[in-house]
Amino acid sequence: MPNARLTYEEMMAGLLSKHDPDTAMSLAVGGDYEAMGETLRQLLESYGLRENHYLIDVGCGSGRLAYALSRSSYRETLRYLGIDIVPAMLQYAAAKCQQPSWRFEPAAELKIPEADGCADMLCFFSVFTHLMQEESFLYLREAARVLKQGGVIVASYLDINEPRHWKTFTGNVASAKTRQAKAMDIFLSPDFFAVWARQLGLTLLDEPERDCGQRVCLLQKR
Ligand SMILES: C[S@@+](CC[C@H](N)C(=O)[O-])C[C@H]1O[C@@H](n2cnc3c(N)ncnc32)[C@H](O)[C@@H]1O
Repeated sequence: MPNARLTYEEMMAGLLSKHDPDTAMSLAVGGDYEAMGETLRQLLESYGLRENHYLIDVGCGSGRLAYALSRSSYRETLRYLGIDIVPAMLQYAAAKCQQPSWRFEPAAELKIPEADGCADMLCFFSVFTHLMQEESFLYLREAARVLKQGGVIVASYLDINEPRHWKTFTGNVASAKTRQAKAMDIFLSPDFFAVWARQLGLTLLDEPERDCGQRVCLLQKR
């Protein structure tokens, strides 16, 4: 019998049926909407995000990061595109941010709807966690295409080597055993990013340990 997998859309609908919209939209992206949004914003700033930059947020969800950015001092000059597969999340994110020039658009076919070499930074926070490795690779290839030379890709992921991620893994083992329907979690490791970086002509930068709940990987376009 195959495992029962919930799509993100099904998970979102389930949360909305049980919680008020704000709670559901927070839980759907991992919770802690405001505090984690600030953490993610500061992380991107530490990698060089600043005014006049163009940021593409792949798997932007309900706008946890975007909302924190909409409260930043440089929100007026920041260019922002968030893409996601769940329309209700995109609508919620756009309404939260109130930045008319920012774009929140549906993601399709693992493509990033932008021209070559236009973005200063791309981020994938907890997105590769929910994709097959091949799909993550395709997204990274797209990210490398739309990135400017010298620009960076920031991705967070569950690392099978990390003791603090092991609890999530054993929880998933229990769900697999009982065939509990849940969204898919994929565990990666730094090796994947080393190989992918080589294949895509990106440089894997050393990343000091950061706490945003997942391990962070930093890739630069040469
Ligand atoms: C754990 S949430 C993280 C959301 C957001 N990055 C954050 O940290 O607040 C994962 C997000 O990835 C989105 N997602 C899943 N598959 C996707 C795909 N193929 N393309 C774009 N987004 C996807 C989900 O809809 C969900 O919003």
